[in-house]
Amino acid sequence: MPASPPACSPAWSPAVAAPPDVVDRLRAAGCVFAEDEARLILRTARTPEEVEAMVRRRVAGLPLEQVVGWAEFRGLRISLDPGVFVPRRRTEFLVSQAVAHATGRRSAARVGIAGAVVVDLCCGSGAVGAALVAALGPRTALFAADVDPAAVRCARRNVADVGGRVYEGDLFAPLPAVLRGRVDVLAANVPYVPSDAVGLLPSEARDHEPLVALDGGTDGLDVLRRVAAGAREWLAPGGCLLVETSERQAARAALAFVRGGLTARLTTSEELDVTVVVGTAPAAPPGRAAPDSPAALVPPAAPEGRTHGYAAPPPPGPGSKSSKK
Ligand SMILES: C[S@@+](CC[C@H](N)C(=O)[O-])C[C@H]1O[C@@H](n2cnc3c(N)ncnc32)[C@H](O)[C@@H]1O
Repeated sequence: MPASPPACSPAWSPAVAAPPDVVDRLRAAGCVFAEDEARLILRTARTPEEVEAMVRRRVAGLPLEQVVGWAEFRGLRISLDPGVFVPRRRTEFLVSQAVAHATGRRSAARVGIAGAVVVDLCCGSGAVGAALVAALGPRTALFAADVDPAAVRCARRNVADVGGRVYEGDLFAPLPAVLRGRVDVLAANVPYVPSDAVGLLPSEARDHEPLVALDGGTDGLDVLRRVAAGAREWLAPGGCLLVETSERQAARAALAFVRGGLTARLTTSEELDVTVVVGTAPAAPPGRAAPDSPAALVPPAAPEGRTHGYAAPPPPGPGSKSSKK
């Protein structure tokens, strides 16, 4: 039964009154915010039949966002299909860190950048990529990828307006080769729930989001490790990889970044209860700026949250060890 609030907080209009029976049915099903949810359903459905269908699906336990077909993410209305991961509010923190990095690169450049090259890996609905373009401006070049065809279809709708391209396949494999060494921001909200904890998730996630979107393997870090190992090849000098994780996993996640040849920094939002690992690729040697990259780079300041450096960049290669600062 749905006992938790929706993953996002849509801007519901208090002016629309919900029929009492709809509220009662939602409340009986365990919806804590039954009146708000009823209003949202009534505002979204076009006919009484659609209201009934939506109420039934919500009572059956589908996430509200899948029922009404959209989720709010950083003020954007993200279209959502049943079976596609619902973007979480805590992931807005990853986006804010990515924006800080891209803005820092831009202001550090002695010459203007044509527009940041952004990759949204494991894109799901495409919410992260869409929010990054909204924040960084229309000259941003957005590329997204996901292994799940339903997610790819959904993401294509959400990034079409901003000229984003969405590819289907395993991690980096489907991305155009021309992006190698040119990515300014690589955002990857990978699945990171340990396999034996998936069964403990709320039923909305466990029963209505695909396992591939949740299950991160034995310690939750299988996909993250693969992303960290492959990222450096795709990042521009000074470009960065951002991955969301839990505080408990953060140290091991940072180690994976260091093994991949990136400098790792952890930044935490206590308010949203989330940690983001930010990995930065080495800057280009003096006099050798990468195409479309700024000539000089400085690390950006984190805009919010608690931040601390975690590891220094070792020489890349297997067996590299972190040195905790
Ligand atoms: C936690 S969801 C995040 C979705 C989206 N980025 C967001 O924040 O709302 C993880 C996504 O990773 C995708 N995924 C899992 N394994 C993958 C792989 N090996 N290659 C590409 N995508 C993968 C899933 O299909 C899912 O859409």
